[in-house]
Amino acid sequence: MNPSELYKTTPPRLGHGVLEFFGLDRQYVNLNNGSYGSLPLPVLAQCNALTLEIERNPDVFHRRNYQNPLKRVREQVADIIGAHADECVIVPNASHGINTVLRNFDWESQDIIIAFNTTYGSIAKTIQHLSDTPPHPSIVEFTIQFPTTHADIISNFRDFVRQLPEPATGSPKRKVVAIIDSIISNPGALLPWQELVGICKKAGIWSMVDGAHSIGHEMNINLSTAQPDFWVSNCHKWLHAKRGCAVLYVPFRNQYMIKSAIPTAFEYVSPSSGEKPAFIQQFEWNGTIDFVPYLSVTYGIIISSFCRFIARSHMNRFQLSSSASGLGERRRSTSIATDSRSKAGSSWRTFWEPPSWIQTVALLLTW
Ligand SMILES: Cc1ncc(COP(=O)(O)O)c(C=O)c1O
Repeated sequence: MNPSELYKTTPPRLGHGVLEFFGLDRQYVNLNNGSYGSLPLPVLAQCNALTLEIERNPDVFHRRNYQNPLKRVREQVADIIGAHADECVIVPNASHGINTVLRNFDWESQDIIIAFNTTYGSIAKTIQHLSDTPPHPSIVEFTIQFPTTHADIISNFRDFVRQLPEPATGSPKRKVVAIIDSIISNPGALLPWQELVGICKKAGIWSMVDGAHSIGHEMNINLSTAQPDFWVSNCHKWLHAKRGCAVLYVPFRNQYMIKSAIPTAFEYVSPSSGEKPAFIQQFEWNGTIDFVPYLSVTYGIIISSFCRFIARSHMNRFQLSSSASGLGERRRSTSIATDSRSKAGSSWRTFWEPPSWIQTVALLLTW
């Protein structure tokens, strides 16, 4: 079934009713959508159809036919994250996007990379590798001690930035780059990343936001307002696209920094030519890949909205029945009291405006 046809069907019941949309083993309760995502069957069906179409004439598809749908995907994700389509390219995964950014910096020995104690393992190792490689930029670590609050994280980070070691006198201007998670992998907590980006901006520090879990999950992302220097998010986690695909956002002002896609593309422009890098073009083709995951984003987005639609209609029904019993008001006041303390990783407000992960889990579990 085409995912958009779902809206013409009767919405499924919460719980086991939704299992029919996933290929999950019925004996297995999947509580971990975050690591790998789980491809909804209507998206899988579209992917299979696309694969068959590609194989009918691989030459025509790769020369002429994938470019427009890929542009459409960039436009769609840009719309979700509050960016311009030409600031967004599709890459295989978050690791790839972050490596692309970090390996495009011209590192100097006096440069500093800020990692958090909660930085995702392979990203921390990427930073370590960069530091192990001449000219050996150094690493400094910002520690978050849980349990904590957003207010404390913000104020501790501000102090941390103030206390960064001073560059040696007479040394050339140093670069400082901070790798900031939006949602930490472990423990699964939302960070006040917009505020941390703001602190970086004031201090002249480059911000690379690891938003691996953000798109389709975090509500109201607006990168034009938040203004990170670089931002990446996996579409195969909470946006329900096929593994692996991610969006890498590089605002126009920073596109000169990304001299080469990884791997280097036909469209690479040598800085010695004095011309600007062809940002979009070099990510459109940089080695043969299966484009199906990238193009599946369009269908994943439909499923994500459908999940939200089902969850919202069930939530509304629940709210109606619980407010009739007085339960709604009690829950609502709890929500405000808890939220005003802004505990990192616990937002009861999300109960009323559920992000995609709660909706997916809610849909998969029997209430
Ligand atoms: C916070 C965070 N960053 C980066 C990654 C890496 O994602 P990928 O393996 O898709 O590159 C993950 C994976 O779950 C993650 O949780």
